[in-house]
Order: sequence, then structure tokens, then C-alpha cells
Amino acid sequence: MKNKSLFDENYLYYDRWFEKHPKIFETELRAIKKVIPDFKTGLEIGTGTGRFAAALGIQTGIEPSKNMAGLAKKRGIKVIDGIGESLPFKNNSFDLVLIVTTICFAKDPQQMIKEANRVLRDNGTILIAFVDKNSPLGQNYLKNRHKSRFYKEATFFDKKEIFNLLKREGFVVEECVETLFGDDLKHLKLKIYNGCKKNGAFVVLKGRKNGIDARC
Ligand SMILES: C[S@@+](CC[C@H](N)C(=O)[O-])C[C@H]1O[C@@H](n2cnc3c(N)ncnc32)[C@H](O)[C@@H]1O
Repeated sequence: MKNKSLFDENYLYYDRWFEKHPKIFETELRAIKKVIPDFKTGLEIGTGTGRFAAALGIQTGIEPSKNMAGLAKKRGIKVIDGIGESLPFKNNSFDLVLIVTTICFAKDPQQMIKEANRVLRDNGTILIAFVDKNSPLGQNYLKNRHKSRFYKEATFFDKKEIFNLLKREGFVVEECVETLFGDDLKHLKLKIYNGCKKNGAFVVLKGRKNGIDARC
């Protein structure tokens, strides 16, 4: 993992972002809620300070930054130290795996999704939420990444790339929702659309584990 100290050093700044941008956070949550299934056992990979996990009822998180994890624990999440590329869980342990703006920080995103597939039960759901690099806001982040505490370390993706990562591990991609339209955080349009055809910045892709190894 290439960015442990980055999030450890800036964990309070990261967490306060949500208080400075409550409408954006609320919209991102609503977008995830549009596609989240009922679940009993949920895992968030890269749970950060636990804001999404706590709001969505996800009990367990995996997180390499001690300071980020500390805040998530205070929010009631059971956080285990580790990385998504090597999950310390048995096969078929979870109904749901959530990954929110973390895939862009993974050293090996394909391996992270492979591990998510392994720990999911058959018919379990993976939700990957990320900033689409081809959206106006994504382009703005890319252009200004050298000024950002976090995004200077990130590898951005577009919908097709995440779709292909999921397909390669055998996931059936069932749904896509998007929101955050525009290139400036202060003036974003916050409508949520199904289908992902409008170039929104915050995209949630939903995949289902079908239990068949795609490489067979
Ligand atoms: C942008 S934050 C997102 C946190 C949380 N999901 C949220 O949306 O608020 C990315 C998080 O991923 C963690 N992270 C970085 N690399 C990781 C990896 N390989 N596996 C799991 N988590 C990772 C970071 O420590 C950080 O807490």
C-alpha cells in the first residue's frame, strides 16, 4: 500500500470534508442506497473514518490507516487493520462488499476485486463507488491533482475500466447510478440518475457474484 501515511497524517482534514459538504455526502449516500440490497453481513474495504459504513449499517471495515480506523471505530464499526488486496476473512463470509473512493488508492485494484469476490457468498453484491475520471469533476481533479493532499496519490478510473475489472473476476454487472454533475464542488447538480449515461462524477457500479469462475 502506497498511501498509509497520507491518510494517517490527514485523517481529521479528511473527516471534516463531510461536514463542509453535507449535501454532497447526503447525495452520495442516496446514490448508494438506490442500489444497495438487503444484507446481513457487510464489509467496507477502505472504510476510512466510517461515515459511509455507519450510515449504511455495514458492520465491518478493513482499513490500513490507524488514525482513519480510530474514527471509524468510534462510529461503531468493527475495523480490522489490513488491505483489500489481502483480506483476512474466510471465503463466502459476506453478503455485501462496499468500496467507496478507495479503488483509486489500491496498489492492485484487480486483486482487491478478486479478494472481494472470494469473501462474498454466491449471489452476494459488490458496490464500487468512485469518481469517474472522464466526468467534468474527475477531469478537474486530474488537472489539479498536484494540489490535492489525497488525489496526488490516486489512479483514477472510468466506468468502462471498473466494469472490466468486475467482469474479469466473474461479476455480473447489474446496475449503475451516477450523480454530481459539473466541474466545481461549489456548484454541482445533485440529481441521481440510473444508467450512467450522463457523465456524472460519482458513479456506483453494482455487481453480483454468480458463483461461476469466469476463467473456466
Ligand atoms: C478516500 S478514502 C475513502 C474512505 C471511505 N471509504 C469514505 O468514502 O469515506 C480511501 C481509504 O482507503 C484506504 N486505503 C488505501 N489503500 C487501501 C488498500 N489497498 N486497501 C484498503 N484500503 C485502502 C485509505 O487508508 C483511506 O482510508
